[in-house]
Order: sequence, then structure tokens, then C-alpha cells
Amino acid sequence: MNILVTGGAGFIGSNFVRHMIETYPNYYIVNYDLLTYAGNLENLKDIESHPNYTFVKGDINNRELVDYLIKLHSIDVVVNFAAESHVDRSITDPNIFVKSNVLGTQALLDVAKANKITKYVQVSTDEVYGSLGETGYFTEETPLAPNSPYSASKAGGDMLVRSYYETFGMNVNITRCSNNYGPYHFPEKLIPLMVTNALEGKELPIYGDGKNIRDWLHVKDHCAALDLVIHNGKPGEVYNVGGHNERTNNEIVHLIVEELGAPKKLIKYVEDRLGHDRRYAIDPTKLTTELGWKSKYTFETGIVETIQWYLDNQEWWKNIKEGTYQSYYEKQYGEK
Ligand code: NAD
Ligand code: DAU
Repeated sequence: MNILVTGGAGFIGSNFVRHMIETYPNYYIVNYDLLTYAGNLENLKDIESHPNYTFVKGDINNRELVDYLIKLHSIDVVVNFAAESHVDRSITDPNIFVKSNVLGTQALLDVAKANKITKYVQVSTDEVYGSLGETGYFTEETPLAPNSPYSASKAGGDMLVRSYYETFGMNVNITRCSNNYGPYHFPEKLIPLMVTNALEGKELPIYGDGKNIRDWLHVKDHCAALDLVIHNGKPGEVYNVGGHNERTNNEIVHLIVEELGAPKKLIKYVEDRLGHDRRYAIDPTKLTTELGWKSKYTFETGIVETIQWYLDNQEWWKNIKEGTYQSYYEKQYGEK
């Protein structure tokens, strides 16, 4: 199988590329990524010269280049990770979210359709379902009710993917995953931000009352789910991915502080995120019963392993935090 992975230099995409290269010695992976602030080829340093792997820099909106690559490498499957992924950035600058997540998805779909590829997989998010109350779970039947410009743009992408199945009969799948954590997670997101700030002795900013709940999934469990969907997903179907690991942000931050032995006084409650979704929780029954997926990581072991990864890979995150990301951080939280 020859697979075009878009956005493969980001957090989940790079873990997925590595998973596929290690699992399938006969597959060929083309990683196509614009290398925005979030794309980082250091994430794939260990496999950069693997014979079954190649990287090409480009935008998913560049139809000519995507078309050229699909033909050149006889691509069978497209897996689209490419997106602007950070909710906070979508609040300050929504435009790029529509360009990459909506228009980019449509451009990819058009080129994939024209080349009659075997399957198109859209990597989406539970955030398209909106926010839950204290009980209940998101199922694949939950109506879409996105609340942030980020989740609205992801929902827009999902609707286009759905339409290419309904209208053109394209073989598509959409996956909707809960919050991932693990190695190579960009340090603007909650877990890596808190771990790296704690290591640097910087403040740990918790939005609002810190009682918002996220449903954490190890990135490797997500990659295993995507592998199953690529091979066994039924045409046109949506699959939710989550491992029943609900935690409040307060619990996450306190766990990190304790694990690192950092001073509690670093924790600082700051102004809440606008439109902050209260709770996400995935019902993964369809994925487990129809495709046989089961998570391997418990949150307790996964988070300790992840914190250790940040301890062992300080150069990786320090390079990011000292680069252009620094100016975003200062704008977001003030100089600390
Ligand atoms: P990320 O921000 O770490 O990586 C995104 C990658 O896409 C980067 O490498 C970036 O350079 C690339 N990219 C952005 N715009 C592009 C464009 N126009 N053309 C080509 N490449 C482009 O994101 P992530 O956390 O790895 O998320 C990957 C996907 O999974 C996203 O679609 C996101 O919506 C979805 N998702 C993420 C999570 C999560 O918890 N991180 C959960 C569910 C779904
Ligand atoms: O649910 C899946 C989604 O998870 C993905 O679609 C997104 O791409 C991904 O970024 C993530 O979105 P969240 O908004 O849930 O993740 P984030 O890490 O930004 O925030 C997690 C929670 O922590 C959220 O309730 C906001 C809070 N938070 C975040 C940051 C960065 C803080 O309290 N302080 C912070 O500094």
C-alpha cells in the first residue's frame, strides 16, 4: 500500500508515520506537510532516510503538487492530519483555520477523487460535537455543534468529506478522536506546556476554574485505531476514538507537579478561554465492537512515560520554545 500522509510532521502525524513504517515493511509513506510553526522534521529524524519513506514540503491547498505526488507514487490511500490544531490560536486568528481545515480538505478531496484513490481518511476531533454536561458520551450519532472557530472548521471539513461519499461515492472514513498525549506533542497544548513550564520553573496557567474535563488518549493508541480504520473501516463510516480517561485540568496539572516534584506555587489560575467547552467524553463502542480496537495504555502509565519523554528530550522542546513560538507565548500569557 502506498499512503499519502498529510500533516505528517506534526504531533499525531509523525507518530502515525513511524507506526506505519515500523508495522508494514512493504508500505510506502509519502509525508506531505507545509511545515507551519507546528510541523517539525525533528519529529521524524530517526526514519528520515528509511527507504520506504519520503518527505515533501507543501500545502494541501496546492492541488497541482498533490496531484503530481499521488500520480508519481501511485498513492492508494490519503490520510489527512494536516490542519491548524490549536483552539486558542483559532480564537485570535480564525482565517487560517478555514483555509487549511476547510478549503484544504476540499482541495485534497478533489484531487483524491480525480485520481480514484482507494480510500480517504479524515482525522477529525471530538470537538465537532461541542460540549457535554456532567453525564453522557459523544457517539457517532451525536449532532455536530462546534463551539470554537477551530472545531467549526474541523466540522466544515467533516461535512465536505461526508458529501464526497454521499454525492460521488468516494470511499471515505472520518475518525473523531479525543485529546491525545504522548511524545512530540507541541508545547502549546496543556500537557506538554505544563510539563515543560514546570521543568523551566515557569508559571502553570490554568484557564478558569480548572474543572473542564478532557478525555485523554495515548497517541499510539490513536495510531493503532487509524491503522484499523484504514484497513477495515466500512465506506462512509465515522469512528469515534477514545479510551475512557476523563480528567479535569486541575487533576492533570497537579499530577504533573507531583510527578516532577515542582513547587505548587507555580500553578496560576488565569482568565478563562472564550467559549471554553466544559466536558468531552467519547463512547468508542463502534470502534471496539466493529473493528476490534482496544487501548493499550492506561492513563496512569502513559502519563508517567510521557513526562519521562520530556525529561529525556529536552533539546527537542527547548528548540521549539526558544524559536518563533516564544513570541506567541508572550502574547498569550505575557512575559514570564
Ligand atoms: P499539529 O498542529 O501538531 O500538526 C499539524 C500538522 O499539519 C503540522 O505538521 C503542520 O505543519 C501541518 N499543516 C498545517 N496546515 C497545513 C497545510 N495547509 N498543508 C499541509 N500541512 C499543513 O496537530 P496534531 O495535534 O498532530 O493534530 C493532527 C490532526 O488531528 C489535526 O487534524 C487535528 O485536528 C486532529 N486531532 C488532534 C487531536 C489532538 O489531541 N492533538 C485530537 C483529535 C484530532
Ligand atoms: O479534543 C480533541 C482536541 O484536543 C483536538 O481536536 C485539538 O487539536 C487539541 O488541541 C485538543 O484541544 P483542547 O482545547 O482540548 O486542548 P488544549 O491542550 O489546548 O487544552 C486542554 C484543556 O486545558 C482545555 O480545557 C484548556 C485547558 N488549558 C489549556 C492550556 C493551553 C489550560 O487550562 N491552560 C493552558 O495553558
